[in-house]
Amino acid sequence: MEENIAKLLKRKAGPDKVTVKGWLRTKRDSKTISFLELNDGSCLKGIQVVVDKNNFNNPEIIDSLTTGCSVECLGTIVESVGVNQDVEISAEKITLVGECPADSYPLQKKRHTLEYLREISHLRARTNTIGAVARVRSTMAYAVHKFFQENGFYYVNTPLITGSDCEGAGAMFEVTTLDMNKPPRTEDGKVDYSKDFFGKHTSLTVSGQLEGETYAMALKNIYTFGPTFRAENSVTKRHLAEFWMIEPEMAFCNLDGDRDVAERFLKFVFADVMDKCHEDLVFFDKFVEPGLIDKLTHVVSTPFSHMEYTDAVKELEKASDKFDFKPYWGCDLQTEHERYLSEVVCKGPVAVTDYPKEIKSFYMKANDDGKTVAAMDVLVPRLGEIIGGSEREYRYDILVDKMNALGLRAEDYWWYLDLRRFGSVPHAGFGLGFERAVMYVTGMQNIRDVIPYPRAVGSAEF
Ligand code: 4AD
Ligand code: MG
Repeated sequence: MEENIAKLLKRKAGPDKVTVKGWLRTKRDSKTISFLELNDGSCLKGIQVVVDKNNFNNPEIIDSLTTGCSVECLGTIVESVGVNQDVEISAEKITLVGECPADSYPLQKKRHTLEYLREISHLRARTNTIGAVARVRSTMAYAVHKFFQENGFYYVNTPLITGSDCEGAGAMFEVTTLDMNKPPRTEDGKVDYSKDFFGKHTSLTVSGQLEGETYAMALKNIYTFGPTFRAENSVTKRHLAEFWMIEPEMAFCNLDGDRDVAERFLKFVFADVMDKCHEDLVFFDKFVEPGLIDKLTHVVSTPFSHMEYTDAVKELEKASDKFDFKPYWGCDLQTEHERYLSEVVCKGPVAVTDYPKEIKSFYMKANDDGKTVAAMDVLVPRLGEIIGGSEREYRYDILVDKMNALGLRAEDYWWYLDLRRFGSVPHAGFGLGFERAVMYVTGMQNIRDVIPYPRAVGSAEF
């Protein structure tokens, strides 16, 4: 494989001929000499290509090189006299691979706003910021797999099209091949999904958890990592309609064990990305979130805080005047509450556990107090919730009672209930929103800038 620019920049000067390929970021010209900066996305920095026009076989090519064009260059690696790099390329031959008309190229040399870049998502990965996000995201995805693979978890692919609703939140995208203009109807006038492609009503999944649990009941420790879909009608900087989620599930595990894995997992991913993407994080620290690297270093080396929901609400009530939404026992925590708990009370990540049963999903294990469930959310400064998880209700009768109380039909979940009939064990898991984790690591403020093609209310271009 050819060496990319990241590799070339690490080489020493020498007589070997090398080829660089990339896109032109800048060109500085004088009568006798040209400096080109080529970038191929392999690292933040480009490589400087120096052309000595008096000693060059096709100097006229230089005039045709414009910002954004693609270029192939043959030359040698020489020591650079410039302060910005150790080595550069002394060019012998330059080929224009693909031109880029200066008057119509949407990415001019100036700084563009992130809002503008979202409108040209197909080109924005060529910018420093979005390129760095893409590298960090890729590195984090690999770190996720590394953590689980090295700790005895198996990767399970759960279905994206599903007949069951995991979170019971009712915000699902329907999947159908029925003719929307003339759907078949049952006798009582409802759409007849038995005539649909799958012979039943189906949707895009909001979570792979329920199917993930079935594999944890066989392989002990598993994880999923895939896209999930939510038709939430909320336009925020933290919500997408299509986002990626990582969901580990552990058999023979309780809430304490769940919390422990969540903390070790996050720390591993953060430490790994600090190690592998140092240059990109320095960039984010400088231009996006000052203090970012110190923050991550601190998070990786400090135990996470832990609070029970009841105590968390007491803290919030003490500061009640600070919130738009007044906190009380039983309320679902709002982002402003979550941020206050992590930013002000705990000054770092905090796991809040044991929430009121009314505000959490049906599958969470009932606590002995009869009021709360063994739920866990991990909250971080700036973002609020980044992880949601729980110990699962593994007792058949209690689970069925809970489903009945919520109006869920037990027969729809027959296979899920079977797990509680055949060798049931205490088990627990959680879901990490991958984009939220990328936001946390990069300091990026809007979730739409940490996924290549964001899908959100009113937005599905590209
Ligand atoms: O808290 P949630 O809804 O939990 C579940 O889906 C469980 N089934 C997970 C489990 O126990 N296996 O979602 C988990 C995480 C949230 O903490 C958040 O980080 C992220 O997924 N998330 C979203 N990210 C972006 N856009 C959205 N609309 C999101 N909804 C949830
Ligand atoms: Mg949640």
